[in-house]
Order: sequence, then C-alpha cells, then structure tokens
Amino acid sequence: MRSPSLIVLILALYSIASAHKAHKTHAERHSSSKPLPIVIWHGMGDSCCNPLSMGAIQKHLEEKIPGVHVHSLRLGDSFVSDTKKSFFANMNQLVALACNHINADPELSNGYNAIGFSQGGLFLRALAQRCAKPQMNNLISIGGPQMGIFGLPYCIGDNFICNSVRWLLEQGAYESPVQKRVVQAQYWHDSNAEEEYRKKSIFLADINSENSINEKYKENFTRLKNLVLVKFESDHMVVPKESEWFGYYAPNDVSTIFSFNETRLYKEDRIGLKTLHDSDRLHFISWPGEHLRINLDEFDEDLMQFFA
Ligand SMILES: *[C@@H]1O[C@H](CO)[C@@H](O)[C@H](O)[C@H]1NC(C)=O
Ligand SMILES: *[C@@H]1O[C@H](CO)[C@@H](O)[C@H](O)[C@H]1NC(C)=O
Repeated sequence: MRSPSLIVLILALYSIASAHKAHKTHAERHSSSKPLPIVIWHGMGDSCCNPLSMGAIQKHLEEKIPGVHVHSLRLGDSFVSDTKKSFFANMNQLVALACNHINADPELSNGYNAIGFSQGGLFLRALAQRCAKPQMNNLISIGGPQMGIFGLPYCIGDNFICNSVRWLLEQGAYESPVQKRVVQAQYWHDSNAEEEYRKKSIFLADINSENSINEKYKENFTRLKNLVLVKFESDHMVVPKESEWFGYYAPNDVSTIFSFNETRLYKEDRIGLKTLHDSDRLHFISWPGEHLRINLDEFDEDLMQFFA
C-alpha cells in the first residue's frame, strides 16, 4: 500500500546513522564471489528511486553488501509515471513488463534475490510464479498483502490520487472498468462476496489459484529457496494485516480470521505455500509499528542472512 512519507524520514535517519559503520564481516565472507543481485519493487504511491524511500534502501544495501547490484524496478517512462502506475495499471501487464526488465538486465542473468515493499511484495510473488527465468532465489515480502485487502487504502492528507482510488473502490472494485485499471481493485478481496471475487478478480484470484490450480505457477513458486514474510504488528494500511502472513478473513465471515495454515490456499497447497512450509523455506517475521515503519537495524538483523 502507500509508502513514502511515513517510512522515509525514518529510513533516511537510520541510513545516515548507519552509513559510517564498517561491515567487514560481510565483505570478508564475499571476498571471493560477487554477491547475488537484488531486485526491489516499491509500494503504492512510491517510485523506484525516491531518495527518501527506495533510494535509501538501495544505498543501504549497497553499503552493507559490497559489490551488490541492486535493480529497483521502474515500470513507467519517468518517475512520475512509475508512481502513477502504482495506482492505475493492469497488473498482469505490469508483471510481464517487470519480467522483461529483469531479463534485459544482464547482471541478473544468473539469478537474484528480491525485496518487495507493500503491494510490491505481492507483485514480486506473482513474478516468481510467472517469470521462471532468471531464477528468483529468496523473496522477501515486507508488508505485502498476499491474500488481498478488504479495507480502503488510508490516504494521508489531500492525496488526490489516493482519494480517487478510494472512491473508485467504493463504486465497485469488481466492475470491469475499475477492475481493469485500478491496481488496488486487482487485489481487492471482498470476503462478503467470495464467489464474485473469485470470478471477477483479474489478478489476485489468478495468482492465488482460486478457480483452478495452475501447476506451472506452483512449479515456479516452489523453486524459491526462501519466502520471507514480514508483517507489521500495528498495520492499519493493509486490512487485515494478517494478509501479510498469508492469513485472511474466513470466506463470507469477516468476524473470523484464518491464519495461513487454516486457509484453503494452504491446506490444498494450491500455489505451493505448504510445500515451502513443509521444507522449512517459509519464514515469518513480525515488526512492531505501522505499515512500512522500517527500522534499518531490525532490517539488517532479520533479513541480511537472506542475502548472504
Ligand atoms: C514457469 O512458468 C513458465 C511460464 O508460465 C513456464 O513456461 C515454465 O514451465 C514454468 N516452470 C519452470 C520450472 O520454469
Ligand atoms: C498453524 O500454525 C501455527 C503457528 O505455526 C500453529 O501454532 C498451529 O498449530 C497451526 N495450525 C494447524 C491447523 O496446523
């Protein structure tokens, strides 16, 4: 969901604070081989290269992992259009475009690790299912709405685009013109209308194998070495926040929240999540605070092991 103003100041501060620290141990471990590159997908309202958000993360990774190549996905022709596409796009087309960008970057040809922020965590998971080459090794989803959302994005201040998206979702997320164009409608998961969601969602219902099981997706997804799911304990942006750990409202019963292992998706192993879990490749991490309030010390402590 939304990213910049909340996360960013904090990020910038931490980034300055940690910039002068030496990181010899990591560098020593990697003296013989180049570290695996990292692909980043930003969240709603953000862009690839905002120096206060994804730019700060990229810089942090480059400092911590000497020699690493970081590719922060930019899916529009400009930064402004990249931000707009986080609200208005057809996600099936955007995931295909991301696959092209990744294939066009020669530094990624031997595989990569991926970090998605908020909705970017969901889109990278779709990429793992649909874009077999090059190989995605570890996928880290930070506050990603993996089972969708059922709550309007919370807009801070007079954010015209964000407020327009809220209005459109209120008009009817599954109405074809909205569904085809509004990104958040494509992972809108109305638990009071489970059947309608399954039939009309053009993106989430497909990647979550709601109707039929796509064995190719499953095959690709279970090639991941690790899937790391970070949830924010006080998240008010992703509703319900359990979606970040593959939990969700019970079908047609919003008073019950299923944890990941109570859902049909997991129990029937419809996308391979259970396969990952049974082979100890599924990791759950929880961070205190609101959506995307990232503390870089915590980030390093919990996540650096996956870039080793
Ligand atoms: C992954 O997905 C692609 C595209 O759907 C498919 O062609 C391929 O067979 C799948 N599996 C593997 C292991 O690449
Ligand atoms: C689901 O996972 C939780 C946490 O790992 C565990 O405590 C619980 O027993 C599991 N439930 C089922 C039905 O497997």
